[in-house]
Parts: sequence; structure tokens; C-alpha cells
Amino acid sequence: MLRLVVTPQRAPLVGSVPVPSDKSIGHRALLFAALTNGTCEIRGFSHGEDNVSTARALAAMGVALEGLDDPSARTVRVRGVGLFGLREPSAPLDCGNSGTTMRLLCGLLAAQPFVSALVGDASLSRRPMLRVVAPLRERGAKIEGAAHAKRAGDLTAPLVVGPCDEETALRALHHSSAVASAQVKSALLLSGLYAHGETVIHEPTVSRDHTERLLASLGVPLATLGSIVSLDPSGWSGQMPAFEADLPGDPSAAAFLQVAGNLVPGSQITIRAVCTNPTRTGLFEIARDMGAGIEVRPLGERGGEPVADVHAWHEPLRALTVGGELVPRAIDEIPILCALAVRASGVTKIRDAEELRVKESDRLATMAKVLRAFGVACEESEGGLDIEGREGPLTACRVSSEGDHRIAMTAAVLGLLADGPVTIDDVACIGTSFPRFVGTLRALGASLAVEEAP
Ligand code: S3P
Repeated sequence: MLRLVVTPQRAPLVGSVPVPSDKSIGHRALLFAALTNGTCEIRGFSHGEDNVSTARALAAMGVALEGLDDPSARTVRVRGVGLFGLREPSAPLDCGNSGTTMRLLCGLLAAQPFVSALVGDASLSRRPMLRVVAPLRERGAKIEGAAHAKRAGDLTAPLVVGPCDEETALRALHHSSAVASAQVKSALLLSGLYAHGETVIHEPTVSRDHTERLLASLGVPLATLGSIVSLDPSGWSGQMPAFEADLPGDPSAAAFLQVAGNLVPGSQITIRAVCTNPTRTGLFEIARDMGAGIEVRPLGERGGEPVADVHAWHEPLRALTVGGELVPRAIDEIPILCALAVRASGVTKIRDAEELRVKESDRLATMAKVLRAFGVACEESEGGLDIEGREGPLTACRVSSEGDHRIAMTAAVLGLLADGPVTIDDVACIGTSFPRFVGTLRALGASLAVEEAP
């Protein structure tokens, strides 16, 4: 097992660094490229394990991907097989740690004329799947799953999906989602490409819209109105043209560096070419409202998404209450927001964040544990955390990521503020989203060591 030892940061963090390509857009670019009728080029691909899980699943269904096995290759070429060209996989598709891979594939596979199985690691095999299985079943899909050990009535991996036969093709679906979830929305839209009838999805607030942007750019008849999306394939050719995509930087990865810059006095850091899609910029907005030093310098568009350099520096912070529509727009950044709260004057209150309980770990419980280990007072409630800001060095400690990449990286950033070396156990998970995290922090002047635990 790998662990990370972080040395307290006595000097400012300074420099200009890139981040890995956006994980959410990466999954979608790979999936839609596989369904086109031509060869697509995905540029800036950064081989995070989650994206690689999606790519390998596609390869297992007969899609040729060039550049996938070379971690230094920044371009992956995908030979699309068209909407109806996927082949039955000979073994279960391993989604690893990636909820996006499992849920999006579930939607795609529900429409295929063959049976397939989806499996994942221990964390993914605890995540709730009924949210995607139930609406897919409602439109006629055959999907079975394992009973969830802790959530009565819910399902989890392994899932067995299909077959969908010609005569009983998927039906129209009008779905009102209880949670704002881009994974559910995207799975339903993917199944909707094959359905006989329209797909209409109503979310409580808007979740990330990368699927909608990419599908619309490929000529799929899709319309959005606020938090309602509809796709009506009647009259559509069923053909998506080959495309080239330059993947923008991942704002969810940038968040760790931005907050490190906001927390370490004197820091001046620039994170280059970050996706600033408004459905993803919740943390930038929250941090700015807390008084953090942040400047966004727009660079135009990349792959149909707005992109900007993000400049971050240290300023005094004040506590804030965060809830409502901001939560889905900062859903993966709540752990690192907790780190920002540690240095804010007053009590930062996070609300409406129940969804964090069903991520790679129960992030409200794991963050509460990590914060307390660092000597930070916090109160956990069903849907949030109250975090009391404090001055002075944090307590040096040893914490576990609990196998959750975003907890591991948040703990590393907190470690910069401690009064002695901090050890974070179980950090191989960082590779799922930010394989070069340690090197990037080092490039900014931080001192971290990765060790093999005996
Ligand atoms: C994602 C959607 C979000 C997010 C996840 C990636 C996506 O999950 O937390 O990391 O790429 O669609 P939910 O849809 O469960 O909110």
C-alpha cells in the first residue's frame, strides 16, 4: 500500500502548472467517439485510471483505441463502430473505481442486443445503482444487480445488463430525477439514442452538461431548457460524425492546487487551461465569496467548453454557508472546500450535501475524521458539516484516505499547514483522477514523499 508523507510548507507555493484533462469530458469523448462512424482524435488525454477503465471497456467490445497503452501518449485515436457496431464482451467489464464508467455504460449497454456484466472495485461495489437502473427498467431495459448491503431496496454492482431485442426496443421516458446527477442524466441520454420515442429528464437543479454539449455538437437532436433536457431521435439519421477534441483541464483537479495557493501565505500559482463550464465552477465562486485570491483569465473554447487560466493566491478568508444549487456545481470539490474552511474566520456550514455519503467514500464522515485528526473542530449532520476555522499550525497526524482520491489530496493540502510531517495512508487511489498530483505540488515548491508501506 502506498502512503504519502507531507512536510509542513514554510515557503510560498509559486509557479504555473497544468492539470490532467477533465475526467468527466474524457469519459464522454471516449464513449461518443466509439459510437461515431469514423476515426476520432482525443487530444490531451491524461490516462487517469477512471478514464482508462472506460477506454478498456470499449476495447473489450471491439472498439480499436490507439495510444491507450502508452501512458506518455497525449492523443488517443478511437475508431468508431457506429451506434450498432459494439460486440458482446467475452468477460465482465471492469469499471475499477469509476462510478461514471459504470453508470454511463449501463445506459449504453441497456440498448445493446447482447448481455454484458459490469463489475467494479470494493468502493464501486458499494455505490447505489438503482438511480440509474430504475428509469432504464421503466423504459424496458433488462438489468439485474446485487442487493445493496446497507441501503434497503437499492442495487449495486455487479450488474448484468441486456439483451435488448429488436421487437422490444427501449421506449420513450419522462424521468424526474430526485438528485441532480450528471451520471444518471447521461446514462438515460445514451439509452435515448436507441429508444423508440423521446427521452425527457427533469433535474432538481442543473448538473454538469458535458454530455449535452458533446451530443449536440455531433448533430444529435437534443434540447435543454433550464434543468430539463430532451432528446428525440425520430427523424435523426442515427449517425454521428468523427470528431477531434482537445480536452480542457479538470477543474476538480485544479481545485486542490487553487486551495493550496489560497492557504499557504505568499503563494502565487497559475493553473493553466482549466475548464470553466458554469456547471463546474461552484468552488471558484464559493472561494471568491470567502475572500480567496482568485482570478480567471479566459482563453476561449476548447472542445466546446470554456477554458481559462486560473490564478490563485493567499488572502484572509471568512466563513460562509454553502448549500442549494451550488452543491451540484461543486459536488467533487466539497472535500477541498473543507480545507479552505479550516482557515476561514467563523464557522463554515455545508448543507444539502447528502450525495457526498455515496461517493468513493462517505465523504462527510471521512472528512470529519480527517479534520478532527488535524485538530479542527467540526460537527457532522446528515447532509453537511459545520467547520470551525482556526489560526496557527494544524496538528501533525496520520490519516487514511479510505481509498478515496479526493480525500487523499485534501489531506495532502491540509498537511502543508501542519506543525510536523503528516502521513496519509492508502494513496494509490490518487491515480484515478490526478496521476501527477505529487509531482505537480512539488513543481510548486511543496515537499512530499511517496513511500511503500511495509
Ligand atoms: C460525474 C458526475 C458526478 C460527479 C462525478 C462525475 C460525471 O456524479 O460526482 O465525479 O462525470 O457525470 P453524480 O452524477 O453522481 O452527481
